[in-house]
Amino acid sequence: MVQAILIAEYGKGDFMRKKVTVVGAGNVGATTAQRIFDRGYADVVLVDVVPDMPQGKALDMLESGPVLGSDGAIVGSNSYEESAGSDVVVITAGIARRPGMSRDDLLLTNMKIVGSVTAEAARYSPDCVLVVVSNPLDAMVQHAYKVSGLPSERVVGMAGILDTSRFRTFLAQELKVSVTNVSAYVLGGHGDTMVPLIGSTTVGGQPVSELVGAERLAEIVQRTRDGGAEIVGLLKTGSAYYAPSAAVVQMVEAILLDRKEILPCAAYLTGQYGIHGLYAGVPVKLGAGGVEEIIEIRLTDEERSALRRSADAVQELVEVMAKAG
Ligand code: NAI
Ligand code: 2OP
Repeated sequence: MVQAILIAEYGKGDFMRKKVTVVGAGNVGATTAQRIFDRGYADVVLVDVVPDMPQGKALDMLESGPVLGSDGAIVGSNSYEESAGSDVVVITAGIARRPGMSRDDLLLTNMKIVGSVTAEAARYSPDCVLVVVSNPLDAMVQHAYKVSGLPSERVVGMAGILDTSRFRTFLAQELKVSVTNVSAYVLGGHGDTMVPLIGSTTVGGQPVSELVGAERLAEIVQRTRDGGAEIVGLLKTGSAYYAPSAAVVQMVEAILLDRKEILPCAAYLTGQYGIHGLYAGVPVKLGAGGVEEIIEIRLTDEERSALRRSADAVQELVEVMAKAG
């Protein structure tokens, strides 16, 4: 599909690669940059505060181009000039969790980092779509929206695809079927209050509740909620990055290729699902304009209340940030 588009565009003779900037060249940022570079359809700028590190990682990735057949350009930088005119900017800068820490423990440190890098990135790329990844995700994307001055449809957060991917993985393992047969959504905030929608989860078209007993399903839901902590507990020095970067790239690709793909993302709600003026994880149509539509799917009363509770938890963090200035 991607190759077909590329061939068609090259055939027209007016193909110009898109440009993606990834801020934060740590685990998530570098893996995201690598995945985009490997695909060959966008030039990448990798920015980090650590001197020489993003330059070194970018050069290493560039030197993989001849082996992979990627003609994309990738550069590393400690400033934002190189990032000017990016189509998409991904914010992964900040600190990550260590064992014993919750995502919310990162709030005030990452607020300062995300605020400063977002202001710079948006100044150099005023037409970009901003994809925020740093944690606590929903609060950080809300802060980035405020600082960037961009319209809300061009500021979006990554979490729902990751949470949903974990849920789909565990269900596929349980039922011994392909992950592609499991269709599910995890909505709400990226934290303990996330909302897996059992009612609309199907496996090969069958409702999951007819295939997995209620008790076992509750265990799988809990493992999904604890998915980030499970990886932190195993890695000990940081948090997950392979599945997160895959999720980020699905969003970047939907935007760059104007896929209009319906994906669970953190989007700014203006009354949808009864939530006003706050980012929350909901299904959105993602395309060249960013969040082109917020999709309101039918929820049970229980799911709607769970989404509301999840939004309340995000609101608490937003209030802490407002007090901290
Ligand atoms: P990491 O520690 O490997 O990388 C973070 C990078 O940010 C470091 O290289 C650091 O030098 C850089 N950085 C710090 N301050 C900066 C600044 N002012 N300007 C530019 N770069 C700066 O962490 P990792 O694993 O890459 O995670 C990044 C963030 O993403 C964390 O906050 C983590 O919690 C979050 N995350 C969110 C996920 C989600 O689902 N939304 C999934 C995975 C991670
Ligand atoms: C995760 O869920 C760290 O938020 C990140 O793995």
